[in-house]
Amino acid sequence: MISQKELLQLLPLALDKTDLPLKGKQSGKVRDWYDLPDGKRLLVTTDRLSAFDRILARVPYKGQVLNQLSAWWFKQTEDIIPNHLISIPDPNAAIVQRVTPMAVEVIVRGYITGVTTTALWYRYSLGERDIYGYTFPEGLRKNERLPEPIITPTTKGGATGHDERLTCAEVVDKGLLDAKTWDQVQAAALAVFKCGQEAAQKAGLILVDTKYEFGLTDDGSVMLIDEVHTPDSSRFWQDETYADHFASGLEPENFDKEFVRIAYAEKGYRGDGEIPAMPADLWAAASARYITIYEMLTGKEFKAGKYPVEPRLTENLKKLGVISK
Ligand SMILES: Nc1ncnc2c1ncn2[C@@H]1O[C@H](COP(=O)(O)OP(=O)(O)OP(=O)(O)O)[C@@H](O)[C@H]1O
Ligand SMILES: [Mg+2]
Repeated sequence: MISQKELLQLLPLALDKTDLPLKGKQSGKVRDWYDLPDGKRLLVTTDRLSAFDRILARVPYKGQVLNQLSAWWFKQTEDIIPNHLISIPDPNAAIVQRVTPMAVEVIVRGYITGVTTTALWYRYSLGERDIYGYTFPEGLRKNERLPEPIITPTTKGGATGHDERLTCAEVVDKGLLDAKTWDQVQAAALAVFKCGQEAAQKAGLILVDTKYEFGLTDDGSVMLIDEVHTPDSSRFWQDETYADHFASGLEPENFDKEFVRIAYAEKGYRGDGEIPAMPADLWAAASARYITIYEMLTGKEFKAGKYPVEPRLTENLKKLGVISK
């Protein structure tokens, strides 16, 4: 394991953004991407950490972990549904097939939890019983396991808009997808989630919930894209202590980036106003946690790619002829 001292030293080198000599650069909160020939795309996962819809910090190795963990899951799930991954030219980058992303984000939930406005527990705690088109019984408790995982779609908010909750029926009624495609997406999402829950359990973790993105290829087939079962897109809880904690009303031991949200919430920050400063230790701890999750889930030792990232990435892309020499 990389020492805390080393992680602290790497903080200033963590990858903020890229500026590669390739066309069509665009950036999301976490990824930068570029157009490649033949309908491909270079997806670079940076070290940016976002929460509350804001970029809060840069966390060393986070990009490498997300990129490689997603690649691992794409491999695990490729028999269930085809995915966009073509190759991994560098620890921080993936060459993927460019598709038309669907306008729906497919969230699968195995437990009732969460405190943001779209979260099941939040709605339930307000007294709502009909949520996302499902009827929930009285007496549920926060963090309780659902009888079976459910899909709670949202519209993809994009740069400005916030995600809007949808029922499964509305996805078709609002014309976001045709019925056949939506059936295919739901079946794939539940099957990938089942695979994720089983693999997580082997690693001593519970895959609580997750967000998938799907796209349509030019020939109209459904493809899993973006990222899969990472600590950014998913909640993970420690399996061993879940039952005791739940029985005694304690929060589960989380193994995702929830502890970052909690650190901010303790300072009274929930996404509005000035972002409070955080000690460097928090980001070193976040880095260690991302690496640990990668190692627990994959059962592999994390092999760190060298910093600074951009010269290494450029070199790797030149070797492959993606960037001309
Ligand atoms: N194969 C693909 N083809 C086209 N778009 C893709 C593909 N894979 C991922 N994307 C898109 O690339 C972007 C990845 O960037 P990032 O994860 O930083 O976005 P984000 O900040 O989460 O924003 P968003 O809310 O749009 O997902 C996402 O918008 C995702 O939909
Ligand atoms: Mg994203």
